[in-house]
Amino acid sequence: MTQLWVGTSWKMNKSLAEARDYAHRLAQAAKTRRWPGVTPFIVPPATAISAVAETLGPDSPVELGAQNAHWEDSGAWTGEVSMSQVRDAGAQLVEIGHSERRTHFGETDRTVNLKIRAAQRHGLLSLLCVGEGLEDFHRGRSVSHVVSQTGAALAGLDRTDDVLIAYEPVWAIGEGGRPARPDDVAAVFAALADQYGAEVAGVIYGGSVNRDNAAELLDVRGNSGLFVGRAAWEVGGFLAILDTASHHLDHT
Ligand code: PGA
Repeated sequence: MTQLWVGTSWKMNKSLAEARDYAHRLAQAAKTRRWPGVTPFIVPPATAISAVAETLGPDSPVELGAQNAHWEDSGAWTGEVSMSQVRDAGAQLVEIGHSERRTHFGETDRTVNLKIRAAQRHGLLSLLCVGEGLEDFHRGRSVSHVVSQTGAALAGLDRTDDVLIAYEPVWAIGEGGRPARPDDVAAVFAALADQYGAEVAGVIYGGSVNRDNAAELLDVRGNSGLFVGRAAWEVGGFLAILDTASHHLDHT
C-alpha cells in the first residue's frame, strides 16, 4: 500500500502539560481512526520529547522526532543536544536543515550533511528540509536550487533510504508565507522524484499546509506526504489533515 508521511513540528511552542495533552488526544484518536497507509509523526521541542514518548506509549503508530541535533556524539557543545540524546529521549527521526535553522542559526549544506551522517550512526530517520527562497522562485531557479541543495546534503552517503526529504519552499513557510499551489511545486517534485525518488524514504511537502489545501498538495505527482506547522499545532487540525491523507489513499 502507498505510504504517506504526515507530520507536524511544533517549533518553539508548548509547555510539558500542553505537549502531553496533545499526545494523549492523538493517541486516543489513533486507536479508532488508524489512518491505514499513513505514518503520522510529531516533532516537539527537545524539552518535551520524553514526555510525549511516555504519553504515546511503546506501541504507538505515531513516530516521534527532534527538531535538531548536533553532528558530534558528545562533548563541549554548550546548548546543543546529540543524536544519541534525542534517541534516548524517544525520538525515531530528526529534522535537519529546516529553513529557520539555515537562516537564523547558521546551518549550512556542510552541517546538514554531517548531521545526516550522525543521524545514521544512531539509527534515526533524517527529515531533510530543502527549499528555495523567493528570489530563486521568481527567477525560475527552484529546481536547480533544490536539486543542488539536496545533492550537497546527501553527498558521499553510503545509503539514503533512511532520509525523508521535506520540500519546503522558504516563501511558503510560516506567518508571512504564501501557500504554494500545486503548479508552483510540481516541477521540483518531478525533479526530486527523478533524481532521488528510488533512493530515499520519500519526498513530502511543507509550507503553509492546512486542512483546505492538504488534498490538492497530496495530488502532486511524486509527493508522499505533508509536513505541517501552524495548522497542526492544535490536535484537531492535525487530525483533520491525517483524515484527508487517509481519504486520499482510499482514492488512489
Ligand atoms: P507552516 O510551517 O506550516 O507554519 O508554514 C511549516 C514548516 O516550517 O515546516
